[in-house]
Amino acid sequence: MIKKAILPVAGLGTRFLPATKASPKEMLPIIDKPLIQYAVEEALKVGIEEFLFITGKHKRAIEDHFDKAFELEERLKNAGKYELLKKINSFENLNFAYIRQKEPKGLGDAILCAKPFIQDEAFIVILSDDLIDPQYSVLQEMIKIYEEKKATIIALEEISQDEVSRYGIVSGQKINNYYIIEDLVEKPDPANAPSNLAIIGRYILTPQIFKYLEKLEPGKGGEIQLTDALRELLKESPIYGYIIKGKRYDAGEKLGYLKTLVEFALKDPEISSDFMQFLKEKLSNLQSIK
Ligand code: UTP
Repeated sequence: MIKKAILPVAGLGTRFLPATKASPKEMLPIIDKPLIQYAVEEALKVGIEEFLFITGKHKRAIEDHFDKAFELEERLKNAGKYELLKKINSFENLNFAYIRQKEPKGLGDAILCAKPFIQDEAFIVILSDDLIDPQYSVLQEMIKIYEEKKATIIALEEISQDEVSRYGIVSGQKINNYYIIEDLVEKPDPANAPSNLAIIGRYILTPQIFKYLEKLEPGKGGEIQLTDALRELLKESPIYGYIIKGKRYDAGEKLGYLKTLVEFALKDPEISSDFMQFLKEKLSNLQSIK
């Protein structure tokens, strides 16, 4: 059973500056819920009991978000706003820990910070800016493969050729519902990309990965890249890939974030019909300008 999840939130989030100057990208809201809360809820659904956040200098915002907000809770109680109360106090009994990544040296370095917390067990990594439709659980499907293989499992998605330079890209052989990974490259040039299968922000890793992360030199962008450590690991142990079936939203960049907001707003029972009306008017105005 996998019981621990690592949530790296120490990146600089430069694509969202200045919004991310004093608050992590992972606190960006999708309507009324921050990205990081979706990630925690996704992990809870597969039985995760312990959460480790790898934080940067914005530790406070994440910690406060999952902490008890005594004064606010009292005010909501006194005002009889029990629905809102339920929304803010559902994390009180969970086991959260925080480790600070001293410098944002890359995702690989962030994962290495989790070594003392992990001991001898497999664990999940969730990058919360890859938001996956909450109706669907890719983690559940990855865990099934892990239970059979007892090896590293990574989530994959087919992307268009012009996007390959933004992702870790793999090549592999498809067997049943998974891939046996044969190669991994971080952010390749489109001309040299081994495929258009991108690594998405869900991983099941084993403690083996730390050995490779410890030895790793900076890679693409001068960062310690998790993909590079996986590539080293692959020389000694198998890695399996699973193509996600649900919709994934790239909320870590501006256009992707906007698309995510629109899709979630259209599904939100409280605002969807008014929002749809707004969109229709906006579109018809735009068409008349054309
Ligand atoms: P990204 O590659 O999206 O980088 O990180 P970023 O710094 O967050 O954002 P940009 O590219 O500057 O806009 C992927 C995940 O890895 C975490 C991020 O918080 C995000 O969840 N990360 C990245 C760290 O925890 N530490 C790092 O040093 C780098």
